Amino acid sequence: MSYVAPVIPENAPFTPAQRAWINGWLAGYLAPGEAAPGAAAAPPALAEDFPWHDPTLALEERLRLADGRPKQRRLMAAMAQLDCAQCGYLCQTYAEAIASGAETRLTRCVPGSKETARALKELVDSAPGATVAPAVAVAPSPAAPSRRPVPARFDGARCLNREGSEKDTRHVVFRIDEALDYEVGDSLGVHAANCPELVAAVIERLGARAGDEVDCPDGSRRSLHEALGLVCDIGRPSDAAVEVLASRAPDYDESQRLQALAEGYPGAQPEDADLLDLLLAFPSARPPVQELISALDPLQPRLYSIASSPRMRRGEVHLTVAAVRYRRRSRLRKGIASTFLAERAPPGSDVPIFVQRAHGFRLPAADDAPIVMIGPGTGVAPFRAFLEERRVRGATGRNWLFFGDQRRGCDFLYAEELEGYRRDGLLTRLDVAFSRDQAERIYVQHRMREQSAALWAWLQEGAHLYVCGAATMARDVDAALTAIIARQGAIGSGEAKAYLATLARSGRYLRDVY
Ligand SMILES: Cc1cc2nc3c(=O)[nH]c(=O)nc-3n(C[C@H](O)[C@H](O)[C@H](O)COP(=O)(O)OP(=O)(O)OC[C@H]3O[C@@H](n4cnc5c(N)ncnc54)[C@H](O)[C@@H]3O)c2cc1C
Ligand SMILES: NC(=O)c1ccc[n+]([C@@H]2O[C@H](COP(=O)([O-])OP(=O)(O)OC[C@H]3O[C@@H](n4cnc5c(N)ncnc54)[C@H](OP(=O)(O)O)[C@@H]3O)[C@@H](O)[C@H]2O)c1
Repeated sequence: MSYVAPVIPENAPFTPAQRAWINGWLAGYLAPGEAAPGAAAAPPALAEDFPWHDPTLALEERLRLADGRPKQRRLMAAMAQLDCAQCGYLCQTYAEAIASGAETRLTRCVPGSKETARALKELVDSAPGATVAPAVAVAPSPAAPSRRPVPARFDGARCLNREGSEKDTRHVVFRIDEALDYEVGDSLGVHAANCPELVAAVIERLGARAGDEVDCPDGSRRSLHEALGLVCDIGRPSDAAVEVLASRAPDYDESQRLQALAEGYPGAQPEDADLLDLLLAFPSARPPVQELISALDPLQPRLYSIASSPRMRRGEVHLTVAAVRYRRRSRLRKGIASTFLAERAPPGSDVPIFVQRAHGFRLPAADDAPIVMIGPGTGVAPFRAFLEERRVRGATGRNWLFFGDQRRGCDFLYAEELEGYRRDGLLTRLDVAFSRDQAERIYVQHRMREQSAALWAWLQEGAHLYVCGAATMARDVDAALTAIIARQGAIGSGEAKAYLATLARSGRYLRDVY
């Protein structure tokens, strides 16, 4: 049965935001098999909102949106907004810990990188002292999730791309203790090791001995080789480590340039340098090894969306990992964790992992609710898990997947599985966008626009919308959705945005982006 929810007329006595909120509420409340989307969430005017809590916004825009808010909120706006917990907190709780003085390290936001660390430093320096309490009631901050790693047996990383592809995307399988409990929508934290050739090159440039023992930033005492391989972040040397290099460079010019880099001086070179780049560019900088090790940040785990259902794949967890490789300053750079999984971890070895619980990125509780999943590239990972889960649960809700990648012939990840699901009806619809099979780029949002009327109908019937993948894609998909809703609902763009915001607040528009 198809159901179309009523829409509050344009001339009703509501503001556009109120009207959009009520429309979204009605769409969800009256949709078959669904609880009211607004039932758990307060109307927009009552709760404190975090308009900057959107990983698709640029740092500048996020800070602008937090302007005038208390310090802990401006600090929160400087975070990458992924709630990825790689810092050991969530964006909100990390900011609150810094604001209260309980946390002094400002470089823990891995996805925000140095940009975030610098903004945090500026905010802390410019507004020292106590924080101002927010003016409205705030929900208690979610607790920092547990990240205690446990060993999992690495089974291997099969390449999902075929000959002719420019990419290297791997289907990674871990065997896990059944006590390690995860749900579809969760991510897996992986503790990887640095590339041993890179570690050896750093040790050689330092003129040190690999076997010498050092005290590590995590409190352990290890050989220099292990410290640089397992514990220290040598890909993104901390500002403190760059300052150590500056203070230990007898060449005045080198010391000045290193100091400029450490202070984030605009235009300071070399940009995005790893530790080896710095040792090569500033040959006079040869600090005592222990001083350097103590100043480096700890190597953080990386998160990957889980691509399997624990009910279908007992004792296993699957990932879809794009191996990051690129050239810079005539050296091949390798993403630490993605290439560790793709090329260095020996099958059969134990790798430390942990489950990072999703913050709301879950299947609808009602098995008859329709879902629309937008997941190009590795963004397909959680949707493979969703489909497996819905199959095992015998969920009757319709499933629509938008997938995209570069070329159908070599980059259609999980093609057999997905086309099989389309044939047997688990997938009601499968729309694909292969960006490089023609002269002009075609992306998932182009396919969505082509299917505007059907998408709008699914939304009116209570569909839950999910987006997963790169942040730039999620931003463009958001813009496409706004345009689709505005056109199909015959409303303005502001109201369409408010409609989407209402869906998000009610848990019907969920994004997992990176
Ligand atoms: C919640 C969440 C879920 C995620 N799920 C997945 C997933 O399912 N699959 C997946 O593959 N990834 C996923 N990621 C991303 C993943 O966590 C890592 O960020 C990614 O694998 C890169 O990590 P790395 O250690 O290999 O690379 P790093 O060593 O961290 O290097 C990455 C850095 O290299 C630089 N870089 C990358 N490419 C280029 C380039 N072409 N030119 C110049 N510089 C470049 C950028 O600065 C980038 O930040 C997810 C992230 C989050 C937060
Ligand atoms: N440097 C590396 O070696 C490397 C390798 C893999 C992934 N990565 C990074 O890892 C992340 C995820 O990669 P991934 O393999 O999952 O896929 P991805 O790079 O996000 O690409 C998946 C598909 O999305 C398309 N796309 C690009 N920009 C888009 C946009 N704004 N809107 C919609 N679609 C868009 C891509 O097209 P086009 O590519 O044709 O533009 C491709 O068809 C990305 O941030 C990527 O930069 C880096």
